[in-house]
Amino acid sequence: MSVTTMKRILVIHGPNLNRLGHREPEIYGRHTLAAIDAEIIQAGEALGVDVQTFQSNHEGELVGRIQQAAEEVDGLVINPAAYTHTSVALRDALQMLDFPVIEVHLSNIYQREDFRHHSMTAAAVTGQITGLGKDGYLLALDALVRMAADAS
Ligand code: DQA
Repeated sequence: MSVTTMKRILVIHGPNLNRLGHREPEIYGRHTLAAIDAEIIQAGEALGVDVQTFQSNHEGELVGRIQQAAEEVDGLVINPAAYTHTSVALRDALQMLDFPVIEVHLSNIYQREDFRHHSMTAAAVTGQITGLGKDGYLLALDALVRMAADAS
């Protein structure tokens, strides 16, 4: 699929992100996932793209959703959460996509424990935004739309 048509974007949230707002708020912020998703959908409307969101705590479900996305969307934003650091399966699934993918982390993974410094998935994505909190998702949407416009 060509990057010149950015009509549909999927935003995927990995494990434990359903607990945002309650989970270590000093690291991940006080916004719930529902509030963040509402902002993402609203930003998509403003940009003229149809945005869907998906969260799962299960690696296989995330792989399945990425495979499904290959047929359905033109761009992907993903916070693989803890699977960032461990999942060859997610990396392989992302590697199969032929549209732009942006990896987002709420926290700056490079300022944290050593095991978070390595992203298994980063080599399979177009770019990474880390440490900008929930705004990272909005910037990622913007970047996908700009990439498509630049390519057209
Ligand atoms: C995270 C960073 C990961 O290291 C962690 O396991 C998460 C969230 C982030 O958004 O900052 O669950 O991806």
